[in-house]
Amino acid sequence: MKNKRTTLVHLIYFSRLNLAADALTRSRELGEITRQAQKKNEFSVITSFLIVEQNFAAQIIEGERMSVNDTFGRINVDTRHRDVQIVEWREIVKREFVNSFSTCVRNPANDALFQKANLLPMFQRGTPRAISIQSLALALQTESMSKQGIDHLFV
Ligand SMILES: Cc1cc2nc3c(=O)[nH]c(=O)nc-3n(C[C@H](O)[C@H](O)[C@H](O)COP(=O)(O)O)c2cc1C
Repeated sequence: MKNKRTTLVHLIYFSRLNLAADALTRSRELGEITRQAQKKNEFSVITSFLIVEQNFAAQIIEGERMSVNDTFGRINVDTRHRDVQIVEWREIVKREFVNSFSTCVRNPANDALFQKANLLPMFQRGTPRAISIQSLALALQTESMSKQGIDHLFV
């Protein structure tokens, strides 16, 4: 029989960030979120990827079902963002993300990938597709790993 105690799931949500308008404070605030999330996710064996475009955030959280539940329970009540909406929450066969917490903000260097994904109008309508968020996050991860010289390691 399948062992249900170790079910692997992913949860994809999007939200509107309540971060400062000026770039410096904003990056400091994102840095603070990153520090907290990395520590907690490492402890809970969560892997995740956070996309930031304008004031929208979209995050994929992977891990054991109860760990993802607990993590999302905390994220959901965090006042640094609002209108948190689940896009997809389902069982997965394997993890796709390698770090406990990575974040990627749209910038001139990764603009082409964001443009191709075209998430912004979906965020604005309130109907982003899970696959669009997931594909962009994977493309950003691949790009970041190849910049570090880590190609063809994960297939
Ligand atoms: C956009 C966003 C993403 C976050 N991602 C995570 C995450 O992946 N893991 C996590 O533990 N906390 C994450 N946090 C932080 C949590 O909301 C929370 O502040 C943190 O887990 C500490 O919770 P505690 O003060 O209840 O211990 C995120 C917060 C925001 C605003």
